[in-house]
Amino acid sequence: MTNERGAVFISGTGSNLAALMDLPAINVSLVVTSKPTAAGAGKARRRGVPVIVFHDWESLQKELIRCQITYIFLAGFMKIIPESFLKNWTGRIWNIHPSLLPSYPGLNSIERAYVDRAALGCTLHEVTPQVDGGKIIVQKQTSLSENLISSEFLVHLAEHRTVRKGVVCLLKKA
Ligand code: GRF
Repeated sequence: MTNERGAVFISGTGSNLAALMDLPAINVSLVVTSKPTAAGAGKARRRGVPVIVFHDWESLQKELIRCQITYIFLAGFMKIIPESFLKNWTGRIWNIHPSLLPSYPGLNSIERAYVDRAALGCTLHEVTPQVDGGKIIVQKQTSLSENLISSEFLVHLAEHRTVRKGVVCLLKKA
């Protein structure tokens, strides 16, 4: 069993969180949600993973230390992480983004890329003060489908595979 203890930060559905919780090796030990009613929070509770609601960065940092968290994964967390918090987690905080960065950072990435008929996919990357700008760890391109809904489905499927594989590799290297 790994000594790693992961905290996954979410705001919404939590499908990437579920993909991570599926693998015992990833050892998701805490879920942090910016929205108390996020569906992802329910998914965590049903699996017996503790959930806390985000209030402020200072108390969150204290809670992460108290829970002996060793790495953080952002999975749809809708808050910008301040540098003062990031400096505690250099090289230990990662994000999944639904585009082939550096193309389409920020919000509505799949839709914007789809409208442009650009390549679709996802990127696992390190988190730095620049939003969606950290070092790229792995990317997966998906095929362009006949409509936006099915294109989104394929990107999300790729995300789930990428986070599972990616985090296992990152933890092996660490
Ligand atoms: C994912 O598309 C992720 O890449 C983006 O936000 C979405 C979160 O989806 N940052 P879910 O909550 O993991 O289902």
